[in-house]
Amino acid sequence: MAGHFFSFEGIDGSGKSTQARLLADALRAEGLAVTLTREPGGSPGAEEIRRLVLEGDPDRWSPETEILLFTAARRDHLEKTIRPALARGDIVITDRFADSTRMYQGISRGELGATVDQLHDLMIGVEPDLTFLIDVDPQVGLGRAQARAGLEMRFEDMGLDLQRKMRTGFLALAAREQRFRVISGERDTVAIAADVKARALVYLAGT
Ligand code: ADP
Ligand code: TYD
Repeated sequence: MAGHFFSFEGIDGSGKSTQARLLADALRAEGLAVTLTREPGGSPGAEEIRRLVLEGDPDRWSPETEILLFTAARRDHLEKTIRPALARGDIVITDRFADSTRMYQGISRGELGATVDQLHDLMIGVEPDLTFLIDVDPQVGLGRAQARAGLEMRFEDMGLDLQRKMRTGFLALAAREQRFRVISGERDTVAIAADVKARALVYLAGT
């Protein structure tokens, strides 16, 4: 693939979407072609699946069905948006990718980590080149997420304990995988964005 693939990860309300947008703006200002996208969603079919998984009764889907839905959405996103953009040479920036399924479905809904990994290998099989983990205390993230409450509250209603488990899980994953850059999200938006941009440029300069 010609382009570069970046993802943003973190718990709800960590500031991922804000930082993904700011990095896209910063790289475009450098004259680079950027595709900014998100999960669940990022293609018309995957956006339809997004509504199925994020709205409605929290017990609507079993944990296993939920993993299949997130993976189906990701497959469509990969086929219709990510791969074509990488083939054009774009920098693809996605707000969440497979690490979110590893954490949210792998940890929060029972011991389904192995199932998530197997399905990923079978149906997705790619990882980002660089993953920015925006790390915040769950109390901070939850406060920010609740301030912007809407229809999509199924996952954000998980509560502080689960968000804590998720933060720990993300940090453990980041310690294992070289592609991660852990960014403290408890600073003002501009300082975080400068940090993210600097690390992205270091990566790009080395490619
Ligand atoms: P996420 O995508 O991780 O859920 P968002 O980027 O949507 O996070 O941010 C959640 C909320 O917190 C938004 O209302 C956003 O304006 C606000 N926010 C984002 N980054 C910061 C920051 N560094 N400091 C204070 N508030 C922030
Ligand atoms: P998102 O829109 O990124 O929410 P937020 O901005 O609050 O972080 O994602 C919606 C929810 O979907 C979020 O709570 C995390 C969850 N999610 C999963 O459970 N599994 C997944 O694979 C993905 C991509 C998201």
